[in-house]
Amino acid sequence: MLTSYDYTTARLCDGAGIDVLLVGDSAGMVMMGYQSTIPVTMDQMCLFTSAVSRARRDALVVADLPFMSYQASITDAIANSGRLIKAGADAVKLEGGSEMADTISSIVGVGIPVMGHIGLQPQTTTLSQGYRVQGRTKESAARLIRDARSLEQAGAFCIVLEMVSHDVAEVITRDVANIPTIGIGSGPGCSGQVLVIQDMLGMYELQFSFVKRYRNLSKEIGDAVREYVCDVKESRFPARSADTPKEFLKGIEFED
Ligand code: KIV
Ligand code: NA
Repeated sequence: MLTSYDYTTARLCDGAGIDVLLVGDSAGMVMMGYQSTIPVTMDQMCLFTSAVSRARRDALVVADLPFMSYQASITDAIANSGRLIKAGADAVKLEGGSEMADTISSIVGVGIPVMGHIGLQPQTTTLSQGYRVQGRTKESAARLIRDARSLEQAGAFCIVLEMVSHDVAEVITRDVANIPTIGIGSGPGCSGQVLVIQDMLGMYELQFSFVKRYRNLSKEIGDAVREYVCDVKESRFPARSADTPKEFLKGIEFED
């Protein structure tokens, strides 16, 4: 799984064999330049989702429910999940453990598949322990395992494990036997993996240590833009082509 927020990138990922395109609320940071995912709105998520869904041939399109689109009431959660599905998603993802079980089963109950997301939950880092590995204490590990079980029971079809201690991620993956786990910063013991595409392509300034940088597109794009600026300023681009015979221009009256 990789994140995608636009038609062009989603088309490339789908064509390259990605199983799941995640329209993550990480769009708030990498597409909108916010400091966190908190300001992301339903309208923005619908826009990104519709662009990605138009590019999709084979992959599953999963869209994040943004902060406060599902927490206040189950009615909100169902209505907003419906909006993402109408925008082109196949499934929605939301953050939270056992406290979200009723919400998840209600969304699944109206026929919308739900992906869970536990461990580091970027929408609520203030109340939890911030941006750090989850599951390093006995209580926290036990909580994560309980949360994963209750998401499976609530009918989630998959669970993202974000920055979960590798040992705990492996235990959860074995324990929730009927649905896959997808890890990010949670080690090799998960069923699948996800990265934010700007991170793995080396396009975004901030970078977690667990991210593998497959390319350095910051440099590639920067170099290409510098070359273009130079070419235009020094008249190397564009080249002139003689596309209108000179005699056509004779006798035309120009003002001034
Ligand atoms: O928003 C996002 O990109 C995510 C992934 C990191 C799992 O939720
Ligand atoms: Na997200």
